[in-house]
Parts: sequence; structure tokens; C-alpha cells
Amino acid sequence: MSKFYVTTPIYYVNASPHIGHAYTTVIADTAARWQRLKGNQVFFLTGTDEHGEKIRKAAEAAGLDTQAFVDAVSGNFRDLWEKIDVCPDFFVRTTNGFHKKAVQEVIRSLDASGDIYKAKYTSLYCVPCESFWTATQVKDAGGVCPDCRRQVETIEEENYFFRLSKYQDWLTGYLEANPDFLRPRPRHNEVMGFLKNNKLDDLCISRPKKRVSWGVEFPLDPDYVVYVWFDALLNYISAVGYGVDALKFAKWWPADVQFMAKDILRHHAIFWPIMLKALGLPLPVVVFAHGWWKIGEEKISKSKGNIVNPLELIKDIGIDATRYFLLREVALGLDGNYSWPAVVLRVNNDLANDLGNLVYRTLNMNEKYFNAQLVRPDKSLPQAFRDSFEAVQRDFGRRMDAYEFSGALETLSGFISAMNKYVENTKPWNLNKEGRQDELKKFIYDLLEGIRICAIYLSPVMPRTSGIIYRQLGLEAGQMTLANAVWGCAAEYKTTKGQPLFPRIEDIGVRP
Ligand code: MSP
Repeated sequence: MSKFYVTTPIYYVNASPHIGHAYTTVIADTAARWQRLKGNQVFFLTGTDEHGEKIRKAAEAAGLDTQAFVDAVSGNFRDLWEKIDVCPDFFVRTTNGFHKKAVQEVIRSLDASGDIYKAKYTSLYCVPCESFWTATQVKDAGGVCPDCRRQVETIEEENYFFRLSKYQDWLTGYLEANPDFLRPRPRHNEVMGFLKNNKLDDLCISRPKKRVSWGVEFPLDPDYVVYVWFDALLNYISAVGYGVDALKFAKWWPADVQFMAKDILRHHAIFWPIMLKALGLPLPVVVFAHGWWKIGEEKISKSKGNIVNPLELIKDIGIDATRYFLLREVALGLDGNYSWPAVVLRVNNDLANDLGNLVYRTLNMNEKYFNAQLVRPDKSLPQAFRDSFEAVQRDFGRRMDAYEFSGALETLSGFISAMNKYVENTKPWNLNKEGRQDELKKFIYDLLEGIRICAIYLSPVMPRTSGIIYRQLGLEAGQMTLANAVWGCAAEYKTTKGQPLFPRIEDIGVRP
């Protein structure tokens, strides 16, 4: 058994969660569930990023005390995860006392090793993004923040700096030697290109309290707080015991995969590895920066005002269909176009017509022809779907391990379609009419067996549906293990017919 530590970004609490946040978190939850299914020990971390001026301003605008405001919005994230069956092992908040202590400990330690200094500084700063930009970057973006396209401010002040530049050659060498660290490959190429063409500036890691009051106090100087990004990145180690629980920390760190979208690639591909290196800590195995959900050409985001509320989608199509749509619709790494017709098409084809129909008709047949009870005839794998079953056995796990969720599900769809075709070609009603009961029995057993194995593989993506299928097959949820994803393992089925798992969506009208 090995360990698996997976993280999402910690989300800003200046607004409630939308489908983009749900996407990354469902991805991480699925990776965690997949590893648990494989029998590994898993730590899945998500949480909220609660410091910085923009959070304080949001609280002010809401007329609330800052702590009360962050408590409430952080709670919205936590609630959403429950409502979409996302089960983190820990939910970290940057206002947690242990986190603040870890941040201060890191700064003291970097100061002791000579990686922090104080200097005067003039720069362009974007308040909403909490990011500094060089004059060239702002100019190239047409005079506004390159990220959010809002006005930037010129700022001159004394601050504390982290010696990022000192580690540039090291980072370039590391990335060259480890091209699978930043994924997918285009992200690796992008960061390599950036490092080759730009000299890294040292990172300003403090903010004077007179300008930014809501943050972790800078341990070297009480007039300052810690820069929110420096604070935030450290959640990945504070949450697994950095500085307080050496055993726990040694058990989980380094992370096996850290998911985020490409908007925060720079922070995770440059700042974060260098911070770890300077602390003498190992780097995560994989940093995976996926693409964006867009509507038309626009990224879905609060500032663009085009958000999709995951709770609305769940109300329309259910939890599992929402999770399935997010994972299946787009290959991880690419941008995806969100639209209601795309949701309808995906749910109707893959879930209502294919999976749901297969389960429903098979359970029906077992009830009609065998009184819902069937003892295993023989274990041979039917020729009709041998190829697609073997493709699942060969590729599903490999693709899940490589975070190719859409590809893994596509492989499974091939198998489900082959089973449906098998029903259409076999015409079981004729077998029954002609009294070929042995053939009919074998035919239904094979379908039940195929469905059982699909339920096991689908469980990281659609845990509820897999549980329902298992119950309908008369099996214990505890038997839903990868070791049982083997042909012919069920000795007997006592099935119960239920409602179709996924009703077809007939109304393809417009949804928000
Ligand atoms: N607080 C920082 C992260 C600190 S991590 C140490 C932050 N927060 S955020 O609330 O803005 O979340 C950004 C993340 O939300 C993205 O990287 C991505 O994981 C997710 N997404 C937000 N909008 C998204 C899309 N439109 N599409 C895909 N993912 C999206 O940045």
C-alpha cells in the first residue's frame, strides 16, 4: 500500500463557489477516490484562502466583520463540497492558527538561511489579483492588469523580499530533468520558455499593515503582514503538519499531485518549487494545471459575471451526472465550452441511453426470465464484447493514473455500448421463446457481470450511482474493490429492479 496526497488550490472567499471551483475539486476528489479504490492511503486537501485586502474589502462591502465574513463564505465552499459528494480529508483555512504559525516559521527559517532581505520597491500592483506586475507586462496588456484587465496602481514602499532570482538556474535545470513535473506538457513548455526569456525578480513577500491589514503578521517586523500568495501556497505543507507534527509531515509530504487551473500556473510552477527548494523540502511529484471552462470565448469567473452555479446544475441533472459531465466532457488540460445543450447531449447519450438503459433492461430481463435470481453458469468472457472489455482492463487504470479522466471514461463507454449492442443483436426475447434457457442465462449473467465491473470503475466518478447499481445487483458495497474487477467473480445475483438511473432530459431549453 502506498500513500497518495492530492490538493486543490485554496479558493478565495471574496465570493461564493462556481462551476470552475467545483471542477478542480471534483477532479481531486475523483483522483482521491481512485487511489482509495486501489487500496492506497489517501490524504485529500482542499480549503479556503482568506487573507488579503480584497477579502477585507469584500467583508466591508457586505457590512460584516472580516472574520465573520470569511467564516460564512468558507462555509459555503464546505457546504458545496458536501452537496457534490466531495469528501476531503481536511479542509484548511489560512486563518487557522496552526497555518499562521507555519507561515511564520517558514519566514524565520528562510531569513536564517539568508534568503530574505529588506529593500525599497516601486511597482505596479493589481489590488483585486494581489499581484505585482512589471511595466512591460502592464504595457503589453494595454495598460491594465494582464490577469483581470482592471486598473493597476503604482506603489512605492519598503518591503521584505524572498531571493527567488537566486534559484532560477536551479529551477530551469530541475524542469529540464523532470519534464513530467508540470503537466500537461504544453504547461511545461510554457514555463520553460518563460524562464529562458526572462530574468526572475525577487519576490516581494510582505505588505505594510497601513495598506493591508488582514493577513498573517510578518514575524520579522510587526509593521507588516505576509503577502497573501506566499501565505496561501504554504497551506499545502501546513495542513500536513509542517513545523508541528514531524511524523505526519514525513508521511504525506511531498504531494503526489497538485491540481489547479492555468491561471495560477506561475505561482505553482515558479514560486512554489523555489520556496520548497529554499526550505530544503522535496517538490510535489506532479503539478497539473488544467484548462478553463468558458462560455463562448470568456473564462467563467466572478469578475466576468458569467458564472454557472453548481447547485443549479445539480438541481437540474443530479450530483453524479454533474460530476460525470465535468470529467468526461473535456480532456484534462484543455479548455472546455460550457453550455446547457452540451450537458443535455452528454447526459442523454452516455448516461440515460447507454449506462442507464443497459442497467434497466438487464435487471428487467433477470426479473422477467429468472425471477431476479441467477447462479453463475460459466466464467467464459463472451466474444461479443471481449475486445472492449479487454480495452477497459488494459487502459482504464492506466488512464486514471495519468489523470486522463475523460479518456478513462471513454474506454468504459466503449464497453457499455458493446454490451447494449450485444442485447440488440442477441434478441433475448427470441431465446426465451425458443426455450434456449441456458443461453439466456449465460447472456444475462454476462451483462450483470459487465455492469458490476463498470460500477466498480465508475465509483470514483459517480459514487452514488455505483452504490445504487451494487445494491440493485444484490451485492455488498464492501465488495466494490479493484481486486473484484475481474470477470466471473460474482457467484450469484439476486437483483432488484429500480427506477431508471438517469431519466432522459427532454427539455433542452436555455439554462443559466
Ligand atoms: N486563492 C488562490 C489560490 C491559492 S492556492 C495556494 C486562487 N483562488 S481562486 O478562488 O481564484 O481559484 C482559482 C482556481 O479555481 C483555479 O486555479 C481553478 O482551480 C478554479 N477555477 C476558477 N475558475 C475556473 C474556470 N473557469 N475553469 C476551470 N477552473 C477554474 O486563485
